[in-house]
Amino acid sequence: MKIILGPASTQLGKQVAQTLKAETVPVAFKTFPDGENYLRLEGQLQNEDVAIVQTTSPPQDTRLIQLALMADSAKRNGAKKVTAIVPYLAYARQDRIFLQGEPISAETIARMLKAAGVEQLITVNVHQDKVLSHFPFPARSVSAIPLLAEYFVKKGHAKAFALSPDKGAIHIAEEARKILGGECGYLEKNRDRYTGQVSMEMKTLDIKSKTVIIFDDIVSSGGTIVAAAKILKELNPQRIYVACVHPLLIGKAERLILQTGVEEIVGTDSVPSSVSKVSLAPVISRELAR
Ligand code: R5P
Repeated sequence: MKIILGPASTQLGKQVAQTLKAETVPVAFKTFPDGENYLRLEGQLQNEDVAIVQTTSPPQDTRLIQLALMADSAKRNGAKKVTAIVPYLAYARQDRIFLQGEPISAETIARMLKAAGVEQLITVNVHQDKVLSHFPFPARSVSAIPLLAEYFVKKGHAKAFALSPDKGAIHIAEEARKILGGECGYLEKNRDRYTGQVSMEMKTLDIKSKTVIIFDDIVSSGGTIVAAAKILKELNPQRIYVACVHPLLIGKAERLILQTGVEEIVGTDSVPSSVSKVSLAPVISRELAR
Protein backbone atom coordinates (compact mmCIF):
# COMPACT_ATOMS: atom_id res chain seq x y z
CA MET A 1 0.00 0.00 0.00
CA LYS A 2 1.12 3.56 -0.70
CA ILE A 3 0.12 6.55 1.40
CA ILE A 4 -0.70 9.78 -0.44
CA LEU A 5 0.17 12.75 1.77
CA GLY A 6 -2.80 15.08 1.40
CA PRO A 7 -1.87 18.77 1.85
CA ALA A 8 -4.15 19.06 4.92
CA SER A 9 -2.65 16.07 6.79
CA THR A 10 0.97 15.72 5.67
CA GLN A 11 2.37 15.02 9.15
CA LEU A 12 -0.31 12.52 10.08
CA GLY A 13 0.09 10.81 6.70
CA LYS A 14 3.84 10.45 7.28
CA GLN A 15 3.27 8.96 10.74
CA VAL A 16 0.76 6.45 9.38
CA ALA A 17 3.19 5.47 6.61
CA GLN A 18 6.00 5.09 9.13
CA THR A 19 3.87 2.84 11.35
CA LEU A 20 2.84 0.68 8.40
CA LYS A 21 6.29 0.80 6.79
CA ALA A 22 4.54 1.98 3.63
CA GLU A 23 5.90 4.18 0.87
CA THR A 24 4.63 7.77 0.76
CA VAL A 25 3.51 9.71 -2.27
CA PRO A 26 4.11 13.46 -1.89
CA VAL A 27 1.65 15.89 -3.41
CA ALA A 28 2.70 19.13 -5.10
CA PHE A 29 -0.04 21.71 -4.81
CA LYS A 30 -0.74 25.38 -5.33
CA THR A 31 -3.64 27.79 -5.54
CA PHE A 32 -4.17 29.73 -8.74
CA PRO A 33 -4.70 33.50 -8.51
CA ASP A 34 -8.46 32.99 -8.96
CA GLY A 35 -8.60 30.59 -5.99
CA GLU A 36 -8.75 27.30 -7.91
CA ASN A 37 -6.66 24.36 -6.65
CA TYR A 38 -3.95 22.57 -8.59
CA LEU A 39 -2.16 19.43 -7.50
CA ARG A 40 0.02 16.64 -8.83
CA LEU A 41 0.85 13.25 -7.27
CA GLU A 42 4.59 12.71 -7.28
CA GLY A 43 4.87 8.91 -7.36
CA GLN A 44 4.03 5.70 -9.23
CA LEU A 45 0.65 4.17 -8.35
CA GLN A 46 0.16 1.53 -11.07
CA ASN A 47 -1.65 -1.49 -9.57
CA GLU A 48 -1.17 -0.20 -6.03
CA ASP A 49 -3.72 0.04 -3.24
CA VAL A 50 -3.51 3.65 -2.08
CA ALA A 51 -4.74 5.52 0.99
CA ILE A 52 -5.12 9.29 0.73
CA VAL A 53 -4.77 10.97 4.12
CA GLN A 54 -6.60 14.29 4.03
CA THR A 55 -8.64 15.87 6.79
CA THR A 56 -11.41 18.25 5.76
CA SER A 57 -11.46 20.78 8.58
CA PRO A 58 -11.65 24.47 7.52
CA PRO A 59 -11.13 25.52 4.79
CA GLN A 60 -13.30 22.44 4.24
CA ASP A 61 -14.47 23.14 0.69
CA THR A 62 -10.89 23.57 -0.55
CA ARG A 63 -9.82 20.40 1.24
CA LEU A 64 -12.72 18.40 -0.13
CA ILE A 65 -11.88 19.52 -3.65
CA GLN A 66 -8.22 18.60 -3.08
CA LEU A 67 -9.34 15.17 -1.86
CA ALA A 68 -11.49 14.69 -4.96
CA LEU A 69 -8.61 15.80 -7.23
CA MET A 70 -6.20 13.39 -5.51
CA ALA A 71 -8.65 10.50 -5.89
CA ASP A 72 -9.17 11.31 -9.56
CA SER A 73 -5.45 11.53 -10.15
CA ALA A 74 -4.81 8.26 -8.30
CA LYS A 75 -7.32 6.39 -10.46
CA ARG A 76 -6.01 7.96 -13.68
CA ASN A 77 -2.52 6.84 -12.70
CA GLY A 78 -3.55 3.23 -12.33
CA ALA A 79 -4.26 2.86 -8.60
CA LYS A 80 -5.99 -0.45 -7.90
CA LYS A 81 -8.08 0.71 -4.96
CA VAL A 82 -8.46 4.21 -3.50
CA THR A 83 -9.21 4.57 0.22
CA ALA A 84 -9.83 8.04 1.62
CA ILE A 85 -8.64 8.53 5.20
CA VAL A 86 -10.58 11.59 6.31
CA PRO A 87 -10.05 12.10 10.06
CA TYR A 88 -12.48 15.03 10.27
CA LEU A 89 -15.28 14.57 7.79
CA ALA A 90 -16.73 17.94 6.86
CA TYR A 91 -20.51 18.30 6.50
CA ALA A 92 -21.07 15.12 8.53
CA ARG A 93 -23.25 16.94 11.06
CA GLN A 94 -25.87 17.64 8.39
CA ASP A 95 -26.70 13.93 8.30
CA ARG A 96 -30.47 14.31 8.01
CA ILE A 97 -33.09 16.87 7.17
CA PHE A 98 -33.77 18.98 10.26
CA LEU A 99 -35.79 21.73 8.55
CA GLN A 100 -37.76 21.42 5.33
CA GLY A 101 -35.76 22.42 2.26
CA GLU A 102 -32.36 21.28 3.57
CA PRO A 103 -30.03 18.82 1.78
CA ILE A 104 -28.41 15.82 3.45
CA SER A 105 -24.98 17.35 2.95
CA ALA A 106 -23.02 14.33 4.21
CA GLU A 107 -24.52 12.18 1.45
CA THR A 108 -23.92 14.85 -1.20
CA ILE A 109 -20.24 14.92 -0.27
CA ALA A 110 -19.98 11.12 -0.35
CA ARG A 111 -21.49 10.96 -3.84
CA MET A 112 -19.07 13.64 -5.00
CA LEU A 113 -16.12 11.64 -3.64
CA LYS A 114 -17.34 8.44 -5.31
CA ALA A 115 -17.60 10.22 -8.64
CA ALA A 116 -13.98 11.35 -8.18
CA GLY A 117 -12.70 7.81 -7.57
CA VAL A 118 -12.93 7.12 -3.83
CA GLU A 119 -13.83 3.44 -3.26
CA GLN A 120 -13.63 3.22 0.52
CA LEU A 121 -13.59 5.77 3.34
CA ILE A 122 -12.28 5.67 6.90
CA THR A 123 -13.05 8.53 9.26
CA VAL A 124 -12.71 9.13 12.99
CA ASN A 125 -15.59 9.63 15.44
CA VAL A 126 -18.04 10.73 12.80
CA HIS A 127 -20.89 12.63 14.42
CA GLN A 128 -23.41 9.80 13.86
CA ASP A 129 -22.24 6.41 12.59
CA LYS A 130 -25.49 5.72 10.80
CA VAL A 131 -24.83 8.36 8.13
CA LEU A 132 -22.04 6.14 6.77
CA SER A 133 -24.48 3.37 5.91
CA HIS A 134 -25.98 5.66 3.25
CA PHE A 135 -22.63 6.28 1.57
CA PRO A 136 -22.19 4.80 -1.94
CA PHE A 137 -19.02 2.88 -0.89
CA PRO A 138 -17.92 1.04 2.27
CA ALA A 139 -17.30 3.63 4.96
CA ARG A 140 -16.48 3.23 8.63
CA SER A 141 -15.61 5.36 11.61
CA VAL A 142 -12.97 4.47 14.19
CA SER A 143 -12.82 5.93 17.67
CA ALA A 144 -10.07 8.07 19.16
CA ILE A 145 -11.76 8.28 22.57
CA PRO A 146 -9.60 5.49 24.11
CA LEU A 147 -6.45 7.37 23.00
CA LEU A 148 -7.72 10.58 24.59
CA ALA A 149 -8.67 8.79 27.80
CA GLU A 150 -5.24 7.11 27.91
CA TYR A 151 -3.63 10.57 27.66
CA PHE A 152 -5.41 11.54 30.88
CA VAL A 153 -4.55 8.28 32.63
CA LYS A 154 -0.86 8.90 31.82
CA LYS A 155 -1.25 12.41 33.27
CA GLY A 156 -2.44 10.89 36.55
CA HIS A 157 -6.19 11.34 36.10
CA ALA A 158 -7.34 7.74 36.32
CA LYS A 159 -10.80 7.54 37.94
CA ALA A 160 -11.73 11.00 36.62
CA PHE A 161 -15.45 11.52 35.93
CA ALA A 162 -16.11 11.28 32.16
CA LEU A 163 -18.87 13.62 31.08
CA SER A 164 -20.71 14.04 27.81
CA PRO A 165 -22.26 17.49 27.25
CA ASP A 166 -25.18 15.90 25.44
CA LYS A 167 -27.31 12.84 26.26
CA GLY A 168 -26.99 11.65 22.64
CA ALA A 169 -23.22 11.38 23.08
CA ILE A 170 -23.24 9.38 26.32
CA HIS A 171 -21.63 6.48 24.44
CA ILE A 172 -18.49 8.66 24.19
CA ALA A 173 -18.38 9.20 27.97
CA GLU A 174 -18.99 5.48 28.51
CA GLU A 175 -16.14 4.59 26.17
CA ALA A 176 -13.82 6.94 28.08
CA ARG A 177 -14.98 5.56 31.44
CA LYS A 178 -13.83 2.07 30.44
CA ILE A 179 -10.25 3.40 30.20
CA LEU A 180 -10.42 5.91 33.07
CA GLY A 181 -12.04 3.46 35.45
CA GLY A 182 -14.26 6.03 37.21
CA GLU A 183 -17.84 7.11 36.66
CA CYS A 184 -19.57 8.82 33.77
CA GLY A 185 -22.61 10.98 33.11
CA TYR A 186 -24.16 13.48 30.76
CA LEU A 187 -25.79 16.89 30.55
CA GLU A 188 -28.89 17.79 28.56
CA LYS A 189 -28.12 20.13 25.67
CA ASN A 190 -30.55 21.98 23.44
CA ARG A 191 -29.53 23.83 20.31
CA ASP A 192 -31.79 26.34 18.56
CA ARG A 193 -31.91 25.09 14.96
CA TYR A 194 -32.21 28.64 13.60
CA THR A 195 -29.72 30.62 15.75
CA GLY A 196 -27.34 27.79 16.72
CA GLN A 197 -27.54 29.02 20.34
CA VAL A 198 -26.81 26.30 22.91
CA SER A 199 -28.62 26.00 26.24
CA MET A 200 -28.18 23.42 28.99
CA GLU A 201 -30.28 22.40 31.92
CA MET A 202 -28.95 22.29 35.47
CA LYS A 203 -28.56 18.72 36.65
CA THR A 204 -27.50 16.83 39.75
CA LEU A 205 -24.20 15.02 39.21
CA ASP A 206 -21.97 13.54 41.88
CA ILE A 207 -18.79 15.44 40.92
CA LYS A 208 -18.04 17.47 44.07
CA SER A 209 -14.24 17.62 44.57
CA LYS A 210 -13.68 15.28 41.62
CA THR A 211 -11.74 15.73 38.40
CA VAL A 212 -14.16 15.95 35.49
CA ILE A 213 -13.22 15.48 31.85
CA ILE A 214 -15.76 16.66 29.29
CA PHE A 215 -15.51 14.42 26.21
CA ASP A 216 -16.95 15.58 22.89
CA ASP A 217 -16.43 14.68 19.25
CA ILE A 218 -16.11 18.27 18.01
CA VAL A 219 -15.31 21.61 19.60
CA SER A 220 -16.22 24.27 17.08
CA SER A 221 -17.44 27.64 18.42
CA GLY A 222 -16.88 26.36 21.96
CA GLY A 223 -20.51 27.18 22.86
CA THR A 224 -21.27 23.62 24.00
CA ILE A 225 -18.22 23.33 26.25
CA VAL A 226 -18.64 26.83 27.71
CA ALA A 227 -22.26 26.06 28.63
CA ALA A 228 -21.27 22.69 30.10
CA ALA A 229 -18.34 24.08 32.09
CA LYS A 230 -20.52 26.83 33.59
CA ILE A 231 -23.01 24.27 34.86
CA LEU A 232 -20.29 21.97 36.18
CA LYS A 233 -18.67 24.83 38.09
CA GLU A 234 -21.87 25.17 40.14
CA LEU A 235 -21.35 21.59 41.32
CA ASN A 236 -17.87 22.30 42.73
CA PRO A 237 -15.63 19.79 40.96
CA GLN A 238 -11.93 19.85 41.77
CA ARG A 239 -10.84 20.43 38.15
CA ILE A 240 -12.39 20.40 34.69
CA TYR A 241 -10.59 19.23 31.55
CA VAL A 242 -11.83 19.01 27.97
CA ALA A 243 -11.04 16.19 25.54
CA CYS A 244 -12.19 16.35 21.96
CA VAL A 245 -11.41 14.40 18.82
CA HIS A 246 -11.77 17.29 16.37
CA PRO A 247 -10.52 20.59 17.83
CA LEU A 248 -11.84 23.00 15.22
CA LEU A 249 -11.64 25.81 17.80
CA ILE A 250 -13.13 28.50 15.59
CA GLY A 251 -12.42 32.15 16.47
CA LYS A 252 -12.11 32.75 20.20
CA ALA A 253 -13.29 29.25 21.19
CA GLU A 254 -10.08 28.25 22.99
CA ARG A 255 -9.95 31.48 25.01
CA LEU A 256 -13.66 31.35 25.88
CA ILE A 257 -13.32 27.78 27.14
CA LEU A 258 -10.23 28.50 29.25
CA GLN A 259 -11.95 31.60 30.68
CA THR A 260 -14.58 29.34 32.28
CA GLY A 261 -11.81 27.80 34.40
CA VAL A 262 -11.18 24.69 32.28
CA GLU A 263 -7.58 23.62 33.05
CA GLU A 264 -6.63 22.19 29.67
CA ILE A 265 -8.11 21.30 26.30
CA VAL A 266 -6.76 18.15 24.68
CA GLY A 267 -7.47 17.29 21.06
CA THR A 268 -6.11 15.04 18.34
CA ASP A 269 -4.23 15.81 15.13
CA SER A 270 -7.43 15.20 13.20
CA VAL A 271 -7.37 19.00 13.07
CA PRO A 272 -3.80 20.25 13.56
CA SER A 273 -4.02 22.90 16.30
CA SER A 274 -2.36 24.19 19.47
CA VAL A 275 -4.24 21.54 21.48
CA SER A 276 -3.50 18.54 19.21
CA LYS A 277 -1.57 16.50 21.77
CA VAL A 278 -2.81 13.04 20.77
CA SER A 279 -1.97 11.49 17.40
CA LEU A 280 -4.46 9.44 15.44
CA ALA A 281 -1.66 7.52 13.70
CA PRO A 282 -2.01 4.35 15.84
CA VAL A 283 -5.77 4.02 15.36
CA ILE A 284 -5.67 4.81 11.62
CA SER A 285 -2.72 2.49 10.97
CA ARG A 286 -4.45 -0.33 12.83
CA GLU A 287 -7.59 0.15 10.76
CA LEU A 288 -5.67 0.24 7.46
CA ALA A 289 -3.76 -2.92 8.37
CA ARG A 290 -6.99 -4.80 9.14
C1 R5P B 1 -22.76 18.40 18.42
O1 R5P B 1 -23.71 17.72 18.76
C2 R5P B 1 -21.34 18.01 18.64
O2 R5P B 1 -21.22 16.82 19.33
C3 R5P B 1 -20.55 19.09 19.35
O3 R5P B 1 -21.00 19.19 20.69
C4 R5P B 1 -20.74 20.41 18.67
O4 R5P B 1 -20.51 20.27 17.30
C5 R5P B 1 -19.81 21.45 19.24
O5 R5P B 1 -20.02 22.66 18.59
P1 R5P B 1 -19.77 24.04 19.34
O6 R5P B 1 -18.37 24.01 19.86
O7 R5P B 1 -19.94 25.08 18.26
O8 R5P B 1 -20.80 24.18 20.41
